[in-house]
Amino acid sequence: MSFHFSKCHSVLITGAGRGLGLAMAKELANSNQRPKTIIATARNPVASKDLQDLSKSFPGFHIVTLDVASQPSIDAALQEVKSIVGEDGLNCLINNAAINISTDLNTVTPEAMMKTFESNTVAPLFVTKAFLPLLHTAAARETGLGIHRAAVINMSSILGSISCNWGSAAAFKSYAYRTSKAALNMVTRCLATDLESEGILCVALHPGWVRTDMGGPQADLSVEESIPSLLAVVASLTEQDHGGFKDYSGETLPW
Ligand SMILES: NC(=O)c1ccc[n+]([C@@H]2O[C@H](COP(=O)([O-])OP(=O)(O)OC[C@H]3O[C@@H](n4cnc5c(N)ncnc54)[C@H](OP(=O)(O)O)[C@@H]3O)[C@@H](O)[C@H]2O)c1
Repeated sequence: MSFHFSKCHSVLITGAGRGLGLAMAKELANSNQRPKTIIATARNPVASKDLQDLSKSFPGFHIVTLDVASQPSIDAALQEVKSIVGEDGLNCLINNAAINISTDLNTVTPEAMMKTFESNTVAPLFVTKAFLPLLHTAAARETGLGIHRAAVINMSSILGSISCNWGSAAAFKSYAYRTSKAALNMVTRCLATDLESEGILCVALHPGWVRTDMGGPQADLSVEESIPSLLAVVASLTEQDHGGFKDYSGETLPW
């Protein structure tokens, strides 16, 4: 699967120390058509040797500390990213960081609901709000909608689809995770209505069920089966996809 990010000068990925965030950073860095600037953020970057190795191997690959659930951390990261991207602004923000606490009807607690909502729903909204000035700067330099201009990609999940939580597809029980991703989908749609006139594309994407720490060993897909395809979808997004919910193969998902 080939993807072209060459017209997208800068990408920022949250939660890039491991899992799908790291895989996206790695795949982009190794691509012939890579963005000039890749900003991989993690709340504890020194814990990720892979991330350190990438930053040593690729010029234009930056590591920035960012705990998405902490406003002071978001504010500090913004200043650092501003000085990296300069007057080009930021083209593509990928809100990938998230948590999954196992919470069925017996085990769900108010604390698990709130913590998951904070990381998976509130954090992507406030990271996006903080980085909006940089997205605006990039948007002002181009026309149309897409990653060549400015885009917010929210990593959602099919588990956030209310329509799909029925019958056999309802077997995975998690009140906290499912509701946090359903709410992230609404955040995405709200952002899409607010940011369309400013030339900032907003979409929610499902990467498939992938073998990471979160997806577990039984998942359908390897990282290699999901990520290049997901990045090809990101690279191909246009105004027709704005405000939508798609999977890693480009298929539109029901809300
Ligand atoms: N894997 C799947 O099957 C699947 C399916 C659907 C959707 N997704 C979504 O895809 C995204 C990536 O999932 P994954 O499978 O890669 O999960 P993962 O292996 O559990 O990795 C989660 C990443 O998020 C980071 N993170 C969590 N809270 C954070 C915070 N407050 N600040 C900064 N980083 C934080 C983690 O950092 P630390 O290392 O510091 O903990 C880690 O890098 C998530 O949004 C997930 O919901 C995954």
